[in-house]
Amino acid sequence: MDITPLDADEIGMPVAVITGGWSRERDRALLSGKTVADALTDMGVKAHVIDLVDSGWGLVNGLGDAAKAFLAIAGRGAEDGRLQGLLETLSVPYTGSGVLASAIGMNKLHAKTLASAAGVCVPRGIRIDPTAAADDEAVRVSHLLGGLPVMIKPVSEGGSIGVQVATTVERLSLALEQLDVADGEMMAEVFHQGRSVSVGVLEDARGAVHVLPVLEARTPNGVYSYAAKRGTAACDYHWPARVSPITLADLEHQAVTAHRSLGCHSYSRHDFVVGDDGSAWWLEVNTLPGLSKGGNLARMATVGGISYELLLTHILRGADIDRRTRP
Ligand SMILES: Nc1ncnc2c1ncn2[C@@H]1O[C@H](COP(=O)(O)OP(=O)(O)O)[C@@H](O)[C@H]1O
Ligand SMILES: [Mg+2]
Repeated sequence: MDITPLDADEIGMPVAVITGGWSRERDRALLSGKTVADALTDMGVKAHVIDLVDSGWGLVNGLGDAAKAFLAIAGRGAEDGRLQGLLETLSVPYTGSGVLASAIGMNKLHAKTLASAAGVCVPRGIRIDPTAAADDEAVRVSHLLGGLPVMIKPVSEGGSIGVQVATTVERLSLALEQLDVADGEMMAEVFHQGRSVSVGVLEDARGAVHVLPVLEARTPNGVYSYAAKRGTAACDYHWPARVSPITLADLEHQAVTAHRSLGCHSYSRHDFVVGDDGSAWWLEVNTLPGLSKGGNLARMATVGGISYELLLTHILRGADIDRRTRP
């Protein structure tokens, strides 16, 4: 993909880097925000950081003369369309996907419904009924999903917060009994044993897409957990992922289909699990994936010959999308 360095008009441009927020991914968002702001400053952009803590007024007042908002933030209240809607109403161009794709992408059940209608291969999943007795719900879930094990996870979280595998009805029932209300709505999904892989998609201003080298994160039990993502549990990374050419082509095709069917713009990162037979199951889209320099998207780009600075340049230019015609 051909990304040209910032030109004379872009250098010196005032840009607000929006980071932090109040979601459970706040600490990782702050890390992305800091590395993005530092890199943009080194590139000659007039970057200033806004921490979207718990009130939109801090954002509105902090935008100042910003010509664009660079979103280095994740999770609820920021990656789910709310921040995008506010910026749109204020007529401030912002990076990444619009309101609709952000809102759908943050809800794993809705995202899977749309992606699967476009031909993407998704694990069967259902919403957990929080009003049902845990024992009854465990039986219903395992029956509807065709047996165990099942993956239980929040519908609208990220960073592997709250994901757990249940291998018996008793464990499933216990897990349902102990659900954390802070995780919000929960879902259960068929557990596919395999390796976790992630696929980055970049889309240029004309709508042409480019898929970055696929990343594999290998953990002992196959789950790319909260601890593994934070480097406190064992995890081996492989770039590019060790998959066959047929599986690689399938992963690329599914990621692009998901990006387009959900209406994502500019960039997105898609998580899959690949079974031992090579079948690829799409789990979710990250419309605002982490952007720290050592993070997954940046590393995928670097392996694909795109420096961190050029990746940020591409993302920054994505704010030029005309949102009046693209939701
Ligand atoms: N249905 C599933 N089968 C097997 N592994 C899964 C499944 N769902 C999630 N996982 C594992 O849990 C990780 C986190 O799940 P994911 O759906 O990507 O949520 P998050 O938004 O928290 O990243 C995945 O990368 C994968 O390792
Ligand atoms: Mg994920």
